[in-house]
Amino acid sequence: MNTPLRAMKVADLLPMEADVELRALAREITGHDVAYHRNDAPSITDAEYDALRQRNLAIEDLYPELVRPDSPSKRVGAPAVSGFGKITHARPMLSLGNAFSQQDVADFLARIRRFLGLDADETVQIAAEPKIDGLSVSLRYEGGILQYGATRGDGAQGEDVTPNLLTFDEAQIPRNLPPGVPDVVEIRGEVFMAKSDFAKLNAAQEERGAKIFANPRNAAAGSLRQLDTTITAGRNLRFFAYAWGELSAELASHHDQVLALFKEWGFMINPLTRVCDDLGGVMALYRDIEAGRAGLDYDIDGMVYKVNRLDWQSRLGMVTRSPRWAIAHKFPAEQAQTTINDITVQVGRTGALTPVAELEPVTVGGAVVSRATLHNADEIERLGVRKGDTVIIERSGDVIPKILRVIEEKRANNSDPYKFPEQCPVCESSVMREEGEVAWRCTGGLVCRAQLVERLKHFVSRDAFDIEGIGGKQIERFLDQDLIATPADIFRLVDHRDTIARWDGWGDKSADNLIAAIENRTSIGFDRFLFGLGIRHVGQATAKLLARHYTSFENWHAACVKFAAATGTQERQELVELDSIGDAVADSLAEFFREQHNLDVLEDLHRELNIRDVEPLDTSVSPVAGKTVVFTGSLETMTRSEAKARAESLGAKVAGSVSKKTDYVIAGPGAGSKARKALELGLEVLSEEDWINLINGF
Ligand code: IVH
Repeated sequence: MNTPLRAMKVADLLPMEADVELRALAREITGHDVAYHRNDAPSITDAEYDALRQRNLAIEDLYPELVRPDSPSKRVGAPAVSGFGKITHARPMLSLGNAFSQQDVADFLARIRRFLGLDADETVQIAAEPKIDGLSVSLRYEGGILQYGATRGDGAQGEDVTPNLLTFDEAQIPRNLPPGVPDVVEIRGEVFMAKSDFAKLNAAQEERGAKIFANPRNAAAGSLRQLDTTITAGRNLRFFAYAWGELSAELASHHDQVLALFKEWGFMINPLTRVCDDLGGVMALYRDIEAGRAGLDYDIDGMVYKVNRLDWQSRLGMVTRSPRWAIAHKFPAEQAQTTINDITVQVGRTGALTPVAELEPVTVGGAVVSRATLHNADEIERLGVRKGDTVIIERSGDVIPKILRVIEEKRANNSDPYKFPEQCPVCESSVMREEGEVAWRCTGGLVCRAQLVERLKHFVSRDAFDIEGIGGKQIERFLDQDLIATPADIFRLVDHRDTIARWDGWGDKSADNLIAAIENRTSIGFDRFLFGLGIRHVGQATAKLLARHYTSFENWHAACVKFAAATGTQERQELVELDSIGDAVADSLAEFFREQHNLDVLEDLHRELNIRDVEPLDTSVSPVAGKTVVFTGSLETMTRSEAKARAESLGAKVAGSVSKKTDYVIAGPGAGSKARKALELGLEVLSEEDWINLINGF
């Protein structure tokens, strides 16, 4: 999951930095385009995606000479997928710039007035329409007869989905236009699935054990892009017309008049569309429609404002990929109400117990949500949640929804406060909480099956040993069948090759591939090895740092053995001071080395593997070398000390308070006055993910 690389203020970027970032943005945006348009599986929120695009545009504005041939600003969406014929659009299918606030909309209107050189008393009528959350298609009619229909694809070329579109009801997509229409007419609009149809579809899919769609948009896209059109036919897709491509004759002088004609011709026009005269009118409609949004039977993610006069539209023209005469005004995060059916507790790799709210499924922000993390016992207490409670949840397009609050008035009389388990729900070992820690942990270690499974999964995961073909499912099966019990056993699976080959769903080829994949990883960099061990507080960043500090497994092992045996050793002092690793990491390493079974695991692995030394760190090449950074709020993927260590290892200075000298403020949930101060000072505030993306790979 990647989000924007918002390293510095765009205006501060040097050409070289801009060049590097444009390359990274091109790669990243393309990845997201493919995930969204081709695989119907977006991996970041729309807002994050928009931010990436905007940053790309801003950098290109600053350095037009650095615009890349593969720049995302030159295209829309992802190249057409194979399997469907390709259709080159007679006019490109454009995308829209985004507005997120009233100020952005005011700026949009002011830009238009300036561009057209209008007098203050001249009204700019705006046609305002809901932004339908589906996928856009273009329908081409010649001589009044539907010739073909295509998806947007990359904006220039889309997929020929004519057979699929021909399964639509005529009331959605007329096959013929009335007599007298221009010879060539291209109607553009959004194919979407009604929320009610979406709910029915998912219920049926679940019953059949088939794929559950995350939201109506994905369901619509998945349903339209079916090589088997009988599937499309069963999905009851709909279509709102809102734009056009090639026309062999002008239809009218204003946008709303064209839409009225489309309606006469038998297309559906969104009934909430209005013409507004000024910012006040536009904003009032925006608020109205937002208030009624949850009650609509289709998802909308904002409003689209278009200059109503078509002669002005053509004067305004377009900038690279979007028209200057239109803008999308996005809605903020959506909330929903639901009930907590149960509170379950998961046991993680390090034994941490994470409570999870099992929710009555509800659609929010375009996705069905049935679970939400409650993080830890403190969070449960803070929210005061109990089983059976009615709660408000929020999801801003993010993958992880959160519980905002409990509606206490709706609580049943017989409800009891939630009691956090005193025993591990998996292995029944006692649970404990260390001083200063929020998480309760299972004390079972590798005796706890949940911890063992998670540790082994972590061991083979992408950033660790990255063994292709082994994931959670395989690990569980190997464990169940007693083929493995420790990490090093994975490298001895070759002894069980024939057994595995005989399993259902395996066979000789899969078994051989597995063995080859494992053998491929018997030579591994020390940093990956270290991360793969899954030692508490030794995340990817710290593992890299430790690896670069010690450079070899042998050095690290020797140092750890010494400071595990005695406190106050020089080795420990060196570690804590040199890299500002902090006590948490040192304690955790010491604890790890004091357990005989961990030493056995290391010895065993060392025998099986070739652990390659790593190069010591050169801080001068890092993107944050010499910068001052401040962390505020809570961090989710690393501890504060880990974040600090990592930043310092890359040559950054970590400060405790925000000042004009601060370069980056990394703000997590709960960030308060420091983040506010940063905004006041006009500093760049990064999310944890932005930060990770920035330093990733260094
Ligand atoms: S107008 C030249 N109007 O939003 C402008 N687009 O982010 C063409 N969309 O590609 C688009 N509702 O898929 C327009 N009422 C509406 C829309 C709308 C949804 C989608 C469309 C477009 C995307 C741009």
